[in-house]
Amino acid sequence: MNSSFVGLTALGMYVPKEIVTNDDLAQRGVETSDEWIQSRTGIKERRFAKPDEFTSHLCIGAVQNLIDRYGKDVLEGVDMVIVATSTPDALFPQTAALVQNHFNLEAGAFDLLAACPGWLYALSAAAAYTKSGIRKKVLAIGAESLTKILDWSDRTTLVLFGDGACAGIVEAVPEGYGFQSFVLGTDGAGGKHLNMRCIGKTLPDGNPLSEMISMNGREVFKFAVRVMHTATKQAVEEAGLELNDIAQFIPHQANYRIIDAAREYLELPEDRVVANVDKYGNTSAASIGLAMREAIDDGRIKHGDNLLLVTFGAGLTWAASVLRWYEKK
Ligand code: UT7
Repeated sequence: MNSSFVGLTALGMYVPKEIVTNDDLAQRGVETSDEWIQSRTGIKERRFAKPDEFTSHLCIGAVQNLIDRYGKDVLEGVDMVIVATSTPDALFPQTAALVQNHFNLEAGAFDLLAACPGWLYALSAAAAYTKSGIRKKVLAIGAESLTKILDWSDRTTLVLFGDGACAGIVEAVPEGYGFQSFVLGTDGAGGKHLNMRCIGKTLPDGNPLSEMISMNGREVFKFAVRVMHTATKQAVEEAGLELNDIAQFIPHQANYRIIDAAREYLELPEDRVVANVDKYGNTSAASIGLAMREAIDDGRIKHGDNLLLVTFGAGLTWAASVLRWYEKK
């Protein structure tokens, strides 16, 4: 049996307690300043997970937040768990299996790696599962412990990242609601601009893979601004809508200047673009979920709103989706 309309029906979030400000980084010996970081990125602070707190703990925190918000029935019938992350606790067992076990779910479970766009890729997979009838209810998590893999000798990337997790439920929704389009793209030629090695030593073209996160900030910046506005336009068009039909744009929270440049290309007013990068920095696969959850909580996102989610990251990869928000209370 397939469902004609599927969507995100519940959303939870979790961030670690420790707030690390820009000044804190400078005090910890990083040659930087609050002025530099804020003017280049808009970031004021980020969260650091405790030394013994890993991605599975952040996932569990976000799922617990789902339960606190919607009641324990929110997990009733979950038959697949997907964790999008670039910072799994282990290569195996997959982090999704740790979540499945913690909540005692009768579900399949796998991790998905698509860098910062990972959660949107997870939502697209969850939408395909539930629309086709292969699965009925998917727990789709985006979570990162990026501060565990920071290179403290590289002040340019070090100041950007933070830890956090979001957890959503994807299932059937009433007619007209839910996902209206997905744009999913990759340009593997850009792998050299943002990478970190696992078991490989070089890319197939011979470019070296870095021991720690390595990024060509300028190249990623240009790519990001370009795909943020082209993917947005494509997702809106494929949904049969116009930019004016979108109530809120929820971009990947990497850098306020990127968000603002994309906003200007799209000629959008500031109050239709959600940004909380100032509070959390770049939480990669968790960032869109954290921004969306906070915008629901402060009343900017309302039931029935058309939302545009758009993101970019390593790969180089991008994704965008139009979602007509239906929250199951
Ligand atoms: O989800 C992953 C996506 N990644 C991104 O979104 C990153 C996209 N790129 C960017 O956001 C920007 O390129 C950065 C914020 C990473 C860097 O900004 P930039 O304007 O491209 O700076 P830059 O790397 O060209 O460095 C400019 C100057 C240099 O000094 P000189 O050579 O001009 O004297 C750097 O050494 O700023 C210096 N610098 C710093 N100064 C203080 C670099 N990092 C820092 C720092 N504090 N943390």
